[in-house]
Amino acid sequence: MPSPLADPVTLPCGLVFRNRLSKAAMAEALGGKSHSANETLTSAYVPWAKGGWGSILTGNVHVDVNHLGSPDDPALHTEYNGDPALVAQWKQYADACQEHGVPTLVQVCHPGRQSFRGAGTRGLFGQSVAPSAVPVKLGDGLFERLLATLLWNKPREMTKADIERVVRQFVDTARLMADAGFSGIELHGAHGYLIVRGFVLINWFFFVDQFLNPKTNIRTDEYGGTPEKRAKFVLDIIAEIRKVVPPKFAIGIKLNSADHSSATFEETMTQIKLLAEAGIDFLEISGGSYEDPKMMGISEPKSERTAAREAFFLEFAKTVRSRYPELVLMLTGGFRSRTGAESAVRDNACDLVGIGRPAAVDPHFAALLLDESVPEEKAVLPLKKAPTPWILRWIPLKIVGAGAETLYYASQIGRIAKGLATFAPGM
Ligand SMILES: Cc1cc2nc3c(=O)[nH]c(=O)nc-3n(C[C@H](O)[C@H](O)[C@H](O)COP(=O)(O)O)c2cc1C
Repeated sequence: MPSPLADPVTLPCGLVFRNRLSKAAMAEALGGKSHSANETLTSAYVPWAKGGWGSILTGNVHVDVNHLGSPDDPALHTEYNGDPALVAQWKQYADACQEHGVPTLVQVCHPGRQSFRGAGTRGLFGQSVAPSAVPVKLGDGLFERLLATLLWNKPREMTKADIERVVRQFVDTARLMADAGFSGIELHGAHGYLIVRGFVLINWFFFVDQFLNPKTNIRTDEYGGTPEKRAKFVLDIIAEIRKVVPPKFAIGIKLNSADHSSATFEETMTQIKLLAEAGIDFLEISGGSYEDPKMMGISEPKSERTAAREAFFLEFAKTVRSRYPELVLMLTGGFRSRTGAESAVRDNACDLVGIGRPAAVDPHFAALLLDESVPEEKAVLPLKKAPTPWILRWIPLKIVGAGAETLYYASQIGRIAKGLATFAPGM
């Protein structure tokens, strides 16, 4: 029987992904001190462009250079007014990604309250901004509180003018990416990753999630108070982007599964309904938090049933599917084999399979899964837990496990960019 993974998927905007395997977004931290689409960042995508993927999602690109997730993230520096030199810089990146016809979407984000001190041009003491002035919490213990204070400033609640400015920054970034020739963008509304000078890594939630979530959005104006109002920020972004990009430019969003949002299940469903009505081209489902880094699959043993099916968030994807059958769904997290990916598609849990860490070890992993001459037992890349560097071992927090995973795979991406061989953990 031919693999369902080889089937093309047409998004509502008309963009076609030639198969169902998507290279998931992974922050490269290769933007350097210029925070640009430089040659090193571009080089990382040369092997992925030839890897058989149906689509590629880039790592996060920040909409405001003052507020970054890591000191080496690429970002938009000023208001975008069609500057030809800037378009040329991003175009060489887009061209490298799409040289072999693979539509590439840029993951666009703002870290909000979780822009760590020193990440971004606002300096060590420059305040971060957030829907509400709710500081990041790593836990209640003295150590956790101290660490959080060291890493993050207390955010300032955004004024309406701040919100409108950030919406414009998202729109500017999307317009630049469209002008540069990318095929679309993905808004990052799930967990994120902090890559501090290439060695400490922490995951956290991005701006879009900070607005959607009642724990971080306690506003009482038109941007908070109900699930609908908390969704206004992201809905405004989507509506404004649509006005300025070509009709075939895709707009997707990555969200946490309901068990990882402090919103209730029904509130999350309401927000997904609003996103579907806003005409998003796809919804990517992920999950996890710094308290429970499930997206890395390291927090708790998987049930036998889930292990057989690989994907971390399969059941949630199925629920979304049953509620909103028209929505194109991407499911990311845990896929390591053709069998696992095929079973998720055959079970109708998702249309698209997002693959992160295996793609950082084998940029051609999609081609391997699609190659019918490769037997089932060889179309697989089992990955052991990544080793925790000694310097992180003394930190008694779950985030360290997720950090070690991210650190390991970020270093593999660095090796891809340099044209070096990559290795699975423990090899
Ligand atoms: C090094 C690294 C960087 C990541 N950066 C991002 C990111 O920028 N944006 C994002 O949405 N997810 C990011 N992720 C999460 C992946 O997209 C994916 O959700 C997660 O790794 C689980 O999928 P997997 O089991 O296939 O790796 C990152 C993961 C890794 C390993």
